[in-house]
Amino acid sequence: MTASSAAAALGPVPSNLLPDNAQVGANGHLHVAGVDLVELAYDYGTPLFVYDEDHLRARCREAVDAFGEGVAYASKAFLCRAMARIAHEEGMHIDVATVGEMHVALAADVPADRLVMHGNNKDTSELAEALEAGVGRIVVDSFDELDKIEALVSAGAQPPDVLLRVTPGVKAETHDFISTGQNDSKFGFGVSSGAAATGVERAIASDAMNVVGIHSHIGSQVFRVESLAEALEVIARFSEPYGLPELSIGGGLGVAYVEGEATPSISKWGAMTREVADRLCIGASIGAEPGRAIAASAAVTLYKVGTIKELPGIRTYVAVDGGYGDNPRPVLYGSDYTTFLPRCPGADRTLVARVVGKHCESGDVLVSDAHLPPDLTVGDILATPVTGAYGHSMGSNYNKVFRPAVVFVRDGQVREVVRRETVADLLATDIG
Ligand code: LLP
Repeated sequence: MTASSAAAALGPVPSNLLPDNAQVGANGHLHVAGVDLVELAYDYGTPLFVYDEDHLRARCREAVDAFGEGVAYASKAFLCRAMARIAHEEGMHIDVATVGEMHVALAADVPADRLVMHGNNKDTSELAEALEAGVGRIVVDSFDELDKIEALVSAGAQPPDVLLRVTPGVKAETHDFISTGQNDSKFGFGVSSGAAATGVERAIASDAMNVVGIHSHIGSQVFRVESLAEALEVIARFSEPYGLPELSIGGGLGVAYVEGEATPSISKWGAMTREVADRLCIGASIGAEPGRAIAASAAVTLYKVGTIKELPGIRTYVAVDGGYGDNPRPVLYGSDYTTFLPRCPGADRTLVARVVGKHCESGDVLVSDAHLPPDLTVGDILATPVTGAYGHSMGSNYNKVFRPAVVFVRDGQVREVVRRETVADLLATDIG
């Protein structure tokens, strides 16, 4: 096809948007951990999530080095048993937001005491399951939850170790849907309203729980680490009179998705956190819960191009065999991604086209203005990098599209960790 819709051309996809172990192979194709992405797509089908296992492990270790013992992997970013094992083996706790996430982590043989249980509306039965399993920490989010824990302990459950989640009144500069630290929030106990003080005092006075700390999470995809530092100051000052041993600053560190974006590393975030802690003479240990920063750039999604429609004077549509079922972020948050062809990762990308999926809605757009090599053709394998977080985990099978498979690659080996859905899976819960 011609580059008739060419606009600002882009060169090769930059390496900071690719997994650590991405390299151009002798055949010119992009390889990750020594595995040819084009061959992988043919062997395992598309869409396919491909994770660089050593990249995941390296980010987990970086988080442990940066924050120490109190760091947890926020499993909502991406969870399957293989991922839970990796985070655990590399020394992280695991943040689970529901009993569903809890059971996946337990099924990966992660000990319950390494789990931190979150959720703004934990049901009594969920809390009962968490207490029964013996999760290490429960992050309490409301007065109703204090009531529920007290009722469960009166009925015989063991009193859990808890942190109270507070909203520090710090607005993260991110999309409103994923900003959580402002006063107007469904999460936590407000510091400025006095609810946090009332909640902590009540919890400390209660025999039904052992209060070990204060938690806050101001939002996700945060680029300004100063906002995270500001929240730490608020919770440290709030917690100080109670002499609690733990503070958790949640997750939220942003990642670069497209050309020209840059974010601080986990190490830098840790160093900045330590600086604030030293300046304020914070005695408590400080934990964190990165999700996106661990998993996002570890993966690329591979799709197959099925249709190319050139609409003269309008635009070119490139339709792939996935869509918002495997990546709802563009539709939900207006998130941008980049694209490249693994058969020629070094090619200039002079064709501008809209990459769309196969769902029955015009909103099913993966990349609005994707830059691609001009010789793009039907049957090509097309990749979107930085899809390792909140892609597979937020996927759906709308239109009964099968959820994709997930493979981990390492040292030239491929390990399928989640298989592609089948018709039998679609019908498994449909009992007639
Ligand atoms: N801790 C808590 C209590 C959280 O609620 C979250 C994310 C994290 C840690 C991890 O945040 P991260 O380090 O991944 O930013 N679906 C959205 C993101 C929602 C994040 C929800 N909570 C997206 O795709 O951008």
